[in-house]
Amino acid sequence: MGQPVNVGVVGCGAISAQYFQTIDRLPQLRLVAVADLDLDRAREAVRPYAGVDVLSVAELMADPRVDVVLNLTVPAAHAEVALQAIAAGKDVYCEKPLASTAADAARVLEAAAAARVRVGCAPDTVLGTGTQTARNAIDDGLIGRPIAATATMMTPGHERWHPNPDFYYVPGGGPLLDMGPYYITSLVTLLGPVASVIGAASRTRPKRTIGSGPRQGEEIPVLVDTHVTGVLVHASGALSTLVMSFDGVATKAPNIEVHGEKGSLVVPDPNRFDGQVLISDKDGWRELPEAAGYVGAGRGVGLIDFAADRELRAGGSLAFHVLDVMESLLAAADSGTAVTITSTCERPRPVALHSSVS
Ligand SMILES: NC(=O)c1ccc[n+]([C@@H]2O[C@H](COP(=O)([O-])OP(=O)(O)OC[C@H]3O[C@@H](n4cnc5c(N)ncnc54)[C@H](O)[C@@H]3O)[C@@H](O)[C@H]2O)c1
Repeated sequence: MGQPVNVGVVGCGAISAQYFQTIDRLPQLRLVAVADLDLDRAREAVRPYAGVDVLSVAELMADPRVDVVLNLTVPAAHAEVALQAIAAGKDVYCEKPLASTAADAARVLEAAAAARVRVGCAPDTVLGTGTQTARNAIDDGLIGRPIAATATMMTPGHERWHPNPDFYYVPGGGPLLDMGPYYITSLVTLLGPVASVIGAASRTRPKRTIGSGPRQGEEIPVLVDTHVTGVLVHASGALSTLVMSFDGVATKAPNIEVHGEKGSLVVPDPNRFDGQVLISDKDGWRELPEAAGYVGAGRGVGLIDFAADRELRAGGSLAFHVLDVMESLLAAADSGTAVTITSTCERPRPVALHSSVS
């Protein structure tokens, strides 16, 4: 293995600890600096890790040690921070969604292409054993030709547990843009790109109440649809039915099911790396053994493709397509007509079974 890739993190909020743990345990990656609008938060976040500099955003962008800027800011800041990193000549890896709008995401990808730097984007959970084992089963023909899928995400809303949940209820948030990236990235990994969408959406209440932390009890405005349904027509002809909700209480529906001509699959939560994959065919339901994907991976594993200097599987064109699909689904819900998806992407390369991340 060559030199590790030096990572500089912008945004040290709730999700950053999971990334710091992944970077800490992977020899291919080294955390050199962090930044946040709130420097105290940044200092506190990296307290467990020795030798990590706490810098302003401008200082981090200018730091010659930083190879990749890991953008863990809120969705509304994703494009701005990514563009700063690209202007500084750095590769960038962004939390999902790639930007709050497809137009902003397009600007990021155009700037990156012009600067000859690479853009990666979460979710990398689909590189874990759950989605990858299901994909392996489809690619091996175990369910025959895929015909359809269902994807269901039902939660009463993240304001119950997140101390600063405002971003979930402004453009760039909502159940679709927040959780849709996991489900749609998984569906594209399993069934390929999407050609058109139809949809319907609703907004049940104008305000939400923060349920934890110093702002507990504070009401925040809801500026996005909070129950979104739709059908994704994949280029292959397969149809995926999607339900993404911050309004429901609970569900017992599987996160994802895929139905083929010869069998059906239950695919585990795409917001996790692992989980049980079930298949039903002429012999009835049974569990499939782990057959593909990174065992024991955590958030940030997608960054290792920068270190290996290979095409990013959690890459910008996939993230752009997923964002385009989500935005088009909201437009279809708004207009009541089908929307053609103009972007496309390759299915990312499959991940062979790796007993450790490397
Ligand atoms: N919280 C989760 O469980 C979770 C899970 C998966 C993905 N994500 C994604 O991770 C991202 C961050 O989520 P979070 O929950 O950590 O949010 P958060 O609000 O807890 O943290 C975001 C941090 O970014 C900082 N920030 C915002 N704009 C900035 C800017 N322009 N420059 C520098 N710093 C800036 C904020 O000060 C804050 O500390 C989001 O895109 C979210 O969708 C979150």
